[in-house]
Amino acid sequence: MTSPPQHLTLPEFCESRYETSGLYDGLESVLHAISSGAYALEKQIRNGNLAGILGTTGEVNIQGEIVQQLDAISSDTFVQEFKDSGRVAMVGCEEIEHPVSFGETEKHNYIVLMDPLDGSSNIDVAVSIGSIFGIWKRDQQKALNAESLLRPGIEQVAAAYVVYGSCTVLVIATEGNVDEFTMDPATGMFHLTSTDIKYPDKTPYYSVNDGNTARWTNGIVQAVDGLRNGRSQRYIGSLVADFHRNLIKGGVFLYTADTKNIDGRLRLMYEANPLGYVSVQAGGEVSDGIQNILEITPHELHQRAPLILGNKELVKKIREAIKSS
Ligand code: AHG
Ligand code: MN
Ligand code: MN
Repeated sequence: MTSPPQHLTLPEFCESRYETSGLYDGLESVLHAISSGAYALEKQIRNGNLAGILGTTGEVNIQGEIVQQLDAISSDTFVQEFKDSGRVAMVGCEEIEHPVSFGETEKHNYIVLMDPLDGSSNIDVAVSIGSIFGIWKRDQQKALNAESLLRPGIEQVAAAYVVYGSCTVLVIATEGNVDEFTMDPATGMFHLTSTDIKYPDKTPYYSVNDGNTARWTNGIVQAVDGLRNGRSQRYIGSLVADFHRNLIKGGVFLYTADTKNIDGRLRLMYEANPLGYVSVQAGGEVSDGIQNILEITPHELHQRAPLILGNKELVKKIREAIKSS
């Protein structure tokens, strides 16, 4: 990771990075939609308690989880931004049963799959939360429908996430590159603050919900025992914030299958694939314990997957412990 000589704005960065590459035709509009939605949402999050938009809507989503008011607001905010971008043909969202389509002109050449608000249990208690986006090229030769979104994560062309934390950061990954932008709260403009991010060699942290121990297989118990040695446990309960810390400081995150979450807890298309893509571009790995997450051909948009995510050596060690048990 290096500090850029000057804090380019996101539009300036896009101009220098993507303008000459046909592969990223229109990506700047998709990223603008994310940054604009993040700015709007950041204000709502900071003001949530005073504005009376904390707590639940009283509804249950397609995941079987209680919907928080900010889950619904963030979903609506980003859906509108992607529609307005004129570049996104379809959005699949953790909070919405069926994907939403916006158009099929040649300009509508992207698909976005998103978790608009990650870390719902932390909204009401002033703890870091975030938003996660997998960005795909639309296959213009195929009909656009929900089934056409069931592609392996390796086909993503970019991924991005936002952490609304002690400051608000936007991290963008494209093939071989991971860059971080920090929001100026006065203007909503995102400025480049770290470029060419790679996992550090040191691995001070591991992140796991220890309360699940009694439901793990022996292999997972042994793998986590191996991680404990000399490392500090850090578990926020917002995947995106745990991931960001481990990316910058070094470490690994795991939420494996257990006797209660038999397919794992986290969502393949909205959480595992996008963060897995970022992890790989930063020199790390992503696995379900057996195979590379990004190689899974999905059978369902809302499906879950066991997730091991982070430093390459640690992901490998965990895989080996699972295999040998
Ligand atoms: P979401 O808020 O999008 O439903 O995701 C919550 C996820 C993830 O952010 C976090 O890592 C995990 O749930 C925490 O689960 P536990 O409370 O079971 O540890
Ligand atoms: Mn989530
Ligand atoms: Mn969510």
